[in-house]
Amino acid sequence: MAITHLASTRDLSDEALLAILRDARLFVSELGHRHDRTETLAGRNIALAFFEPSTRTRLSFETAAHRLGASTVVFLPHGSSVEKGETLLETMATIEAMRFDVIVVRHSANGIIDQVIANSHVSIINAGEGTTSHPTQALLDMATLVEHYGDLSGKRVCIIGDVRHSRVARSQIDLGRRLGMEFAICSPLELQPDHQDPFFSECAQFSSIDEAAAWADVMSLLRIQRERITDVILPELADYRAFYSMTSERARRMTDKVIIHPGPVNLGVEIDAEVLDMKHCLIHRQVTHGVAVRMAVLKHVLLSRHAT
Ligand code: CP
Repeated sequence: MAITHLASTRDLSDEALLAILRDARLFVSELGHRHDRTETLAGRNIALAFFEPSTRTRLSFETAAHRLGASTVVFLPHGSSVEKGETLLETMATIEAMRFDVIVVRHSANGIIDQVIANSHVSIINAGEGTTSHPTQALLDMATLVEHYGDLSGKRVCIIGDVRHSRVARSQIDLGRRLGMEFAICSPLELQPDHQDPFFSECAQFSSIDEAAAWADVMSLLRIQRERITDVILPELADYRAFYSMTSERARRMTDKVIIHPGPVNLGVEIDAEVLDMKHCLIHRQVTHGVAVRMAVLKHVLLSRHAT
């Protein structure tokens, strides 16, 4: 039997993608009900190794594991032997030696997940890596949009903001295209991605959120990823708000669109606080789907082991 990993969306066959979305739909309908706890993963042990801060991903993986009857431990670098100079791979080997069935890993460096998988004997799930990928975020984005629209084919998504430093954009484009969606990007010059990158080379481009709104059904906002930016000078806030922000005034004009954002949001920068409570803003629904999708992912990784 081969170990199932989830390093990127490319690890999911179309069949697995649809199965995860189907399971997530079932799980999301049960969330908050008394019967939402199952024993599906009873006896399984899951480690969450988060080398970078997180609220949504960490809490939702932990909640998902508990709702499926699995046990969890959380590793955070602060207060750990990382502070004494222990390397990432030695930390991972130490966690693995305590016998877990799956280790969920978040890290700020590109390429770390593949490196961890190459040295691991248990399933690894990418919970967000550098500026490359965030497969479970993209899955929950798709689950949220499927709940809203049903069929996604032909729907148009414009990704707005800091595409250059985003870990979400490629994962969202890959899954969205496989479900029949079209993508565009809308970013200031400094925050545009490499247009030779095959994920972005076929995306339409818009120079303002108002121009994008004439084309898109889904306004997929991104935060300016300040903690990852070392290579460019950021635009002035007033310029950013003028061309790329989902201000309250714009959101009131765009009620025929839906607004999504992976979070955390920077209020007053890419989105105004008032927008969060608008009916066509699905940001909090994305968070709810985060639990359901991660339940479906844990089930897929732990129970769908395939023969080599
Ligand atoms: N979207 C996302 O990954 O959020 P967190 O950093 O809070 O996990």
